[in-house]
Amino acid sequence: MNKIFCFCIALLISCLSVLAQNPLHIPDTLTGPIYNLTVKDSSKIFFPPNVTPTYGMNGDLLAPVLIMNKGDNITLNVINELNVSTTMHWHGFHVSPQNDGGPHQIINPGTTWSPSFKVLNDAATYWFHPHLHENTERQVNKGLAGMIIIRDSIESTYDLPRKDGVDDFPLIVQSKAFDVLYQLAPFNSYDSIIMINGTIDPYLQVPAQVIRLRLLAAASTRSFNFGLEGNIPFYQIASDGGMLDQPVQLTRLRLSTGERAEILIDLSALQGQSLYLKSYASEFPIGIIGAAQVSLNDTLPGYYTNPLNGNDYNLLRFDVTAPTPNPVTTIPNSFAPLNPWLESQADISRDLIFSLDTLILLYSPVEGPFLINNQPFHMDSINIHSYLNNIEIWRLINTTDVAHPFHIHDIQFYILDINGNPPPLGQHGQKDVVLVHPNDTVRFITQFETFADNNEPYMYHCHILHHEDEGMMGHFLVLDTNALVIEELIALQEITLFPNPAADYLYFDTKNLKEKGDFHITLYNVLGQEVKASIRHEKEGILKIDIANFESGIYSLTIKTAQRKYQGKFLKP
Ligand code: C2O
Ligand code: CU
Ligand code: CU
Repeated sequence: MNKIFCFCIALLISCLSVLAQNPLHIPDTLTGPIYNLTVKDSSKIFFPPNVTPTYGMNGDLLAPVLIMNKGDNITLNVINELNVSTTMHWHGFHVSPQNDGGPHQIINPGTTWSPSFKVLNDAATYWFHPHLHENTERQVNKGLAGMIIIRDSIESTYDLPRKDGVDDFPLIVQSKAFDVLYQLAPFNSYDSIIMINGTIDPYLQVPAQVIRLRLLAAASTRSFNFGLEGNIPFYQIASDGGMLDQPVQLTRLRLSTGERAEILIDLSALQGQSLYLKSYASEFPIGIIGAAQVSLNDTLPGYYTNPLNGNDYNLLRFDVTAPTPNPVTTIPNSFAPLNPWLESQADISRDLIFSLDTLILLYSPVEGPFLINNQPFHMDSINIHSYLNNIEIWRLINTTDVAHPFHIHDIQFYILDINGNPPPLGQHGQKDVVLVHPNDTVRFITQFETFADNNEPYMYHCHILHHEDEGMMGHFLVLDTNALVIEELIALQEITLFPNPAADYLYFDTKNLKEKGDFHITLYNVLGQEVKASIRHEKEGILKIDIANFESGIYSLTIKTAQRKYQGKFLKP
């Protein structure tokens, strides 16, 4: 079956090479403060005269580019005209869990979801896509994804190209699989057709000056190794969630699914010439989806049949035309400094171990399914409890044969090190996706600022969409210690505090506390002032706190272990 399918795909490819090139589609732009996005069924003709059913937002495929300013208060109306449920996630955005658009914010058919929030992220290139539980790949493959550009008052002080479609270009880079009936395949191993902004085999007229490309790697699985024909250098100026501190000169830039980068290319000397932006996938080491071979243990013939794997291929042809009036002609020397958190500030370090799920009957070292910390994703279990304003180090340890692009919602992070070495220069700025190679360990540092919710979680996951859909994902809660009430501590099932209200003695059962070792208890009155009380061991794991001479009122109590802190409240009548 697979063989026949591949043969037909191969046929499709050979037909393709005789097709004419197409002008690159530049998506429309939408500006705020209100953005209306109608998600609907549509169709498009990629291979005339065949009609391919698609999904699109305000159009037949993909979406308009949303332009936002940091600090704006915006509303996004996501109008679901599909006959299936969806969600819409603002990838890279620092928003509350309710506004995040993960699998919990379902938009039923015929309904509108309208998150409103202040844009808090720095100037950079972001994106949005559905995140429906077990259906992300299916919906993205059919056409749902879009780019977001955030501008801010710092970025705007630099002499950079920012005229959309003139010297500043959105490039949503994807690879798609079509079946023999020219339908977009819901799953993606045969993704041999490259599309940029939905255009197959595109060309673009660009002026002979400094241009800016906003690269979004939005294939469902594939990584790209961007480079210019003839190894012409280019300059990376931004990573996922912000500008770098200085342009980084490169001839190759690898982006895995979910990652973004902004690059500058100086075309001043190339007027009248053409050159290709390519993916130099022949240079990919083993382990990366898009390399000739992913795993030495791979026994699936399917992986090798894709003509893109391990080969260099064209993405986009630039035809260099006359410069525009007032062109940007130089590459800036430096930008604002980066402000990473220091390792010494971290409250906790957590390990996330990626492994192959060998309990599933048909597992494969290339295809998975894969797990994080041995737990498959569950819609209603919380894998990690964090605390508002915690500074955390997450250590990502990949024990599998495949490189996984790890993504976390809510925050941007800084990579501390990769196998103990500092990250490449283009990756030392703000990131929300990092590709973790087989046998590698990556550490990042971040802070869970601004948003806390004791019930509504955020997600972390592999951004290879079928890995995510098959369970390589988890939930984390950012708890607000000041809002934690005793019931919630009890729900965590690690601490019991009783009775409440308490008149003379308060008992504290710590037998189930996961972390053994020392801990400190502090009591505070309603003004937040520390109050002293005698605390004695009652019996094994139970502490007795004498509150007989406390004035009546509400008190709070903090228990701090080496790694965590809890806070509860009790009433003294
Ligand atoms: Cu781009 Cu959880 O996603
Ligand atoms: Cu995300
Ligand atoms: Cu993965």
